[in-house]
Amino acid sequence: MRSHYCGQVNAAHIDQEVELCGWAHRRRDHGGVIFIDLRDREGLVQVVYDPDLPEVFAAAEQVRNEFVLRIKGKVRARPEGTVNPELPTGEIEILGRELEILNRADTPPFQLDEHEKVSEDIRLKYRYVDLRRPEMLGRIKLRAAIVRALRRYLDDHGFLDIETPMLTKATPEGARDYLVPSRTHPGHFFALPQSPQLFKQLLMMSGMDRYYQVVRCFRDEDLRADRQPEFTQLDIEVSFMDEHAFMELMEGMTRDVVKDVHGLALPDPFPRMTYAEAMRRFGSDRPDLRCPLELTDVGDLMAEVEFKVFSGPAKDPNGRVAALRLPGGGGLTRKEIDDYTRFVGIYGAKGLAYIKVNELAKGKEGLQSPILKFLPDETVATIMARTEARDGDLVFFGADKAGIVNEALGALRVKLGQDRGLMEEGWRPLWVIDFPMFEHDEQSDRWYALHHPFTAPKDEHVDLLEQAPHACYSRAYDMVLNGTEVGGGSIRIHQMDLQQRVFRLLGISEAEQQEKFGFLLNALRFGAPPHGGMAFGLDRLVMLLAGADSIRDVMAFPKTQTAACPLTSAPSEVSAEQLRELSIRVRKPQKEED
Ligand code: AMO
Ligand code: AMP
Repeated sequence: MRSHYCGQVNAAHIDQEVELCGWAHRRRDHGGVIFIDLRDREGLVQVVYDPDLPEVFAAAEQVRNEFVLRIKGKVRARPEGTVNPELPTGEIEILGRELEILNRADTPPFQLDEHEKVSEDIRLKYRYVDLRRPEMLGRIKLRAAIVRALRRYLDDHGFLDIETPMLTKATPEGARDYLVPSRTHPGHFFALPQSPQLFKQLLMMSGMDRYYQVVRCFRDEDLRADRQPEFTQLDIEVSFMDEHAFMELMEGMTRDVVKDVHGLALPDPFPRMTYAEAMRRFGSDRPDLRCPLELTDVGDLMAEVEFKVFSGPAKDPNGRVAALRLPGGGGLTRKEIDDYTRFVGIYGAKGLAYIKVNELAKGKEGLQSPILKFLPDETVATIMARTEARDGDLVFFGADKAGIVNEALGALRVKLGQDRGLMEEGWRPLWVIDFPMFEHDEQSDRWYALHHPFTAPKDEHVDLLEQAPHACYSRAYDMVLNGTEVGGGSIRIHQMDLQQRVFRLLGISEAEQQEKFGFLLNALRFGAPPHGGMAFGLDRLVMLLAGADSIRDVMAFPKTQTAACPLTSAPSEVSAEQLRELSIRVRKPQKEED
């Protein structure tokens, strides 16, 4: 039906006859001459109809936005002064000789270049229209290019692409499961995989040696800009390789892909930072290294001060008091400081103390802050020295449970970086390593696996497991790019007894171990090689490389914030017949007014 894509016709085709198919992006009537911008996946081209051919001209007059057309015509140079340097096809136009309307279109729910005026729900409801926008097309094409480059690297390095089941048993990755009722086993349910974690480990025990899969994962969790209920992982596992060799292999892949799609060279090697250092300096285990601001601990100076807001957390072993210096921040207005105080409130901070540094040489006199009266002179002097404060700076303070201070000041650091134009350009990847094995939850008084329960402890910490779980570090690693965790993984436990010790520590009883993970424990008895791997969040990686704000913008058919699909109206009710077959009786949640 066609000889070229619209966007690929150029000056080299002048005087040639071309046949194109696509959508009428815009039709303009210029007193006797009709211009149609014809659009397809590869771009736009201008087609001109003049009244010399009355029948064709009459057809052109009928065309409206988004009509589907097939045209034939001759490529010619645009007249002087009408060349459009913005458009790849801007040097030429097509003198239309034929026009067939393949299909008409109702007025679209929104004009493609006015998508910002409509809500995201409307864009998702008419996603097939939204995807026609060149920006969306570009992102979907970029996604395909990234997947192609990732696959090429892994294929070249001897990885086998192997599929794993979607109807399976729960995998503990920390979210709720999506369940699927079984008709043939009434009252029993499959879980959709939160990740292929256990299957990929079984594949190593099967001797597959190097596995990968571009795989859909399902997690019923609170949604955010970088989280969707179903998302795609590039999932990878290898045998007989330690974490150092594996991380090298994975950063090689990341470098290759970024080079491939952006022509940019990422650092070689990626910097590595321990979890403890990341939390101390950045309040986050996925620090955005483009931001030069850092936290400074001042808790050791505060234990005895009069100001309870600071002395309380300073004395609490789970507390933290930290400072964040903003160079040149002395000019912040009262309102700006109030806004930042509200901002840290989102993360649970009860306030945001600050000191304005007017003139250091004048000592306390040269500073300005509501909290100065509570702090001894030498404490203030030490804070100024430790944070390397200069005249004109502002120093913020957070004091609370360490978790709250880290979240609040960690987020404030990035926000200040963005608001004040401090963010470096470009890509700042790093590995975060030496994670603690476990996290203690005070409420339930239980230990939780920071990564997942199959992660191996560091060899030198195996003996500490039972006596000092808090002091055990794992062989896990996260890859972080510009403040986003793009992937994470670990070397796994490959000995049954060690796996059982970890389960026990996590409070998983013998019976529960057998019921949930019996198949894994069994497999560990029949020749399990040392192995490890990681999974990349493909959507997140594409989002970053596409410069998009949300992973929804790099998925063809994403779900809304409430995990629904406005296009298909899923999830939806099912017939009584279907429920009966599945032995399910639905109890609707009571309405609030009842
Ligand atoms: P993890 O749970 O860290 O590890 O997931 C790996 C990566 O997947 C991405 N990701 C998500 N992306 C979009 N929406 C979500 N809801 C979502 N949840 C996670 C993140 C994350 O880094 N089995 C282990 C990996 C391993 O140990 O090999 C796992 O799934 O980018
Ligand atoms: P207050 O004594 O509550 O008036 O607080 C004095 C200053 O300390 C104000 O600037 C508050 O924003 C700040 N502040 C209060 N609680 C905290 C906290 N947990 N961390 C940091 N600053 C705080």
